[in-house]
Amino acid sequence: MSKTVRKAVIPVAGLGTRLLPATKVVPKELLPIVDTPAIQVVIEEVLASGLQEVILVTGRGKGAIEDHFDHSYELEDILTRRAKTDQLNSVRRISKLVRAVSIRQKQPLGLGHAVLCAKEAVGDEPFVVILPDDIIAAKVPCTRQLIDVYHKYNAGVVSLLPVPEEHVSRYGIVHGEHWAPRLHRIRTLVEKPKREEAPSNLAIIGRYVLPPKVFTYLEETPRGADGEIQLTDALQRLARERALIGYEYIGERHDIGDKLGFLKCNIRHALQREDIGPELRQYLRELVSAEQESQS
Ligand code: UTP
Repeated sequence: MSKTVRKAVIPVAGLGTRLLPATKVVPKELLPIVDTPAIQVVIEEVLASGLQEVILVTGRGKGAIEDHFDHSYELEDILTRRAKTDQLNSVRRISKLVRAVSIRQKQPLGLGHAVLCAKEAVGDEPFVVILPDDIIAAKVPCTRQLIDVYHKYNAGVVSLLPVPEEHVSRYGIVHGEHWAPRLHRIRTLVEKPKREEAPSNLAIIGRYVLPPKVFTYLEETPRGADGEIQLTDALQRLARERALIGYEYIGERHDIGDKLGFLKCNIRHALQREDIGPELRQYLRELVSAEQESQS
């Protein structure tokens, strides 16, 4: 029997250089998806997946993320006095949402290093890693889908997305056998391969369920030239020495760490909202036809 997955590690210590200057002062994890910070969208996924504990790996300038999940007595007091009940409830709900601990990654030495920082807090049990850049809308939360696969096969699982061939060089790409619907036994992983060298078009996306053995692999992973520890290297060992499953999750994913992905995610989520969706749809139609007219 595999141990129950209870904890989610969410690394938020990256610099977010692709979204500069927006991320100079504001952590990218607090940029909104319509009106909800990305980190809150992700934490709602964690809770909907049945996990009980969140471990945030934070870095310099990321204190506002912890504040977002803390009580804000002054704000709550003002909203109470002004009888703004809806806003008050939404603010209170956030602080009640989650039991989170924060760990500081003192230098941004890569995703593998960020995960390793959570070793003590995770302990000797399997855990989830969630990258909050990847916002995934799904009927069954993506994290829950992966946990179910983990429990069924008692092996590490990574989420996979088939990507267009011209985009493989942006991702970690896997090579393996497709042995059941949506499931792949991973043999090798290649970080950002050239299009002609990619072993497949299956990209690893930011949801993982990993056994605690990964911490040993991370500790033994040599640092790269820039001092970074890559998670991919530890996953490669897991695939070689134990087992690593790739699972093609069911859901719609946006990469909000990228300008275009961020905008698309916002438009998609806004269009689905009852309060602003219809007007936004109308506005987009008008915008497109005005553009077409000006070009003709
Ligand atoms: P990214 O590769 O997207 O890097 O990190 P980044 O710094 O966040 O963004 P860009 O590329 O400069 O725009 C993937 C995930 O790993 C975390 C990031 O916070 C993000 O969730 N990370 C990365 C860390 O926590 N620490 C690191 O040292 C590096």
